[in-house]
Amino acid sequence: MSQEKASNRMWGGRFASGPDAIMEAINASIGFDRKLYAQDIRGSLAHAAMLAKTGIISAEDEQKIADGLNTILSEIEAGTFEFSTRLEDIHMNIEARLAELIGPAAGRLHTARSRNDQVALDFRLWVKEELQRVDAALGRLINAFLTRAEEHASSVMPGFTHLQTAQPVTFGHHLMAYVEMFGRDRTRVRAAIERLDECPLGAAALAGTGFPIDRHMTAKTLGFREPTRNSIDTVSDRDFALEFLSVAAICGTHLSRLAEEIVIWSTPQFGFIRLSDAFSTGSSIMPQKKNPDAAELIRAKTGRINGHLIGLLTVMKGLPLAYSKDMQEDKEAVFDVAETLDLMLAAMTGMVGDMEVNAGAMKKAAGVGFSTATDLADWLVREAGLPFREAHHVTGKVVALAEERRCGLEKLPLEALQAIHPAITDEVYSVLSVANSVRSRDSYGGTAPAQVRRQIRAWRKRLKRDAAAGKNV
Ligand code: ARG
Repeated sequence: MSQEKASNRMWGGRFASGPDAIMEAINASIGFDRKLYAQDIRGSLAHAAMLAKTGIISAEDEQKIADGLNTILSEIEAGTFEFSTRLEDIHMNIEARLAELIGPAAGRLHTARSRNDQVALDFRLWVKEELQRVDAALGRLINAFLTRAEEHASSVMPGFTHLQTAQPVTFGHHLMAYVEMFGRDRTRVRAAIERLDECPLGAAALAGTGFPIDRHMTAKTLGFREPTRNSIDTVSDRDFALEFLSVAAICGTHLSRLAEEIVIWSTPQFGFIRLSDAFSTGSSIMPQKKNPDAAELIRAKTGRINGHLIGLLTVMKGLPLAYSKDMQEDKEAVFDVAETLDLMLAAMTGMVGDMEVNAGAMKKAAGVGFSTATDLADWLVREAGLPFREAHHVTGKVVALAEERRCGLEKLPLEALQAIHPAITDEVYSVLSVANSVRSRDSYGGTAPAQVRRQIRAWRKRLKRDAAAGKNV
């Protein structure tokens, strides 16, 4: 044995068979990119059809290639296809099997194509389909919110700033805040689809090809709006993957904030909601407990999504044009985020639909912490003509008195209020209740039940319009 071989064995560790095995292990992507098999085959079918149409290959060869590819598709779907690490990736695995099945005609499929434009195509197709799945899942989540918001358009809860009781709001209004957030996510998803809707096929290795290919034909067959315009950019670009990850990170952030609220709301101290058994677990030792595990995991999985986004940004940031093998590291991040986000959206939709709302506890909490103090100040401005700053000052004195007497604002006797400011009358009590407070916040987009219902109606219309326009709802 040569010196070199012996030392390979020393540093090879579990790759004791030497550098070949180490290279195979670091180079291969088949362990994860086999997920792209359907897109790879679809791309090859479109490419072969175009090669035949343009006379680059014969119709007989195209027929053989198409039959072979369809056989491979059924083999993979039946689980009988043998993937090999030695063949590196999904593209070579499929091409090698095609050669076994149809012989020399298989060698003509890769004319005017490179794995660089091939992988860009497969991955784009996959990300496009995933974005469409996310779009549909967001539609289901928004619908779940609309149902619950309608039920609770006039249920009162404390609104918070700094997680301190601020002003009473309606629970429906709070839920509709999430509809706005997930609605924006949806527009980001759709914008990302629009931007990625260009077909990479035909960019070849990086410079295009001398064969008389028809890129518009393949773009159309594969459901893209148009072919990409610059072959160098085409094989270097992973913006579509980065955009998917960033859209997912923002959406994950929204899901995580809601998850955090669900965790808080479902504590016995708050008691605003009770999660269904389906989305919570018991404790193995404390029988009284019901833990919001699904919400906690949604909160945690957002960290994982953010990690993948930073990971791929970091992979891409130092790459010279055009393709570098570094880009093979794009797939696991995207696949993991897709699986994670799909699950988070499904779990959140289930939780929102199932949670039991304790409107009584919310209403009670809405009244504590002098939450109608701003209403008193506004009343002093409106009814007694005080400048807002003075009204704010007077209200501060009223709150101090209530604090001293350990009672709510509405429990202070009129004489005590008038001693603070003589312009206060009996009428003031009408704004000190939480129900009157929310009803009075009737500005556009405000918390009044009428405004909440108006926004629910508008969202329902928007969803219907999208569905009619053939968008994925
Ligand atoms: N497995 C590769 C990837 O995922 C396919 C492209 C390989 N191209 C190349 N020139 N080696 O990026």
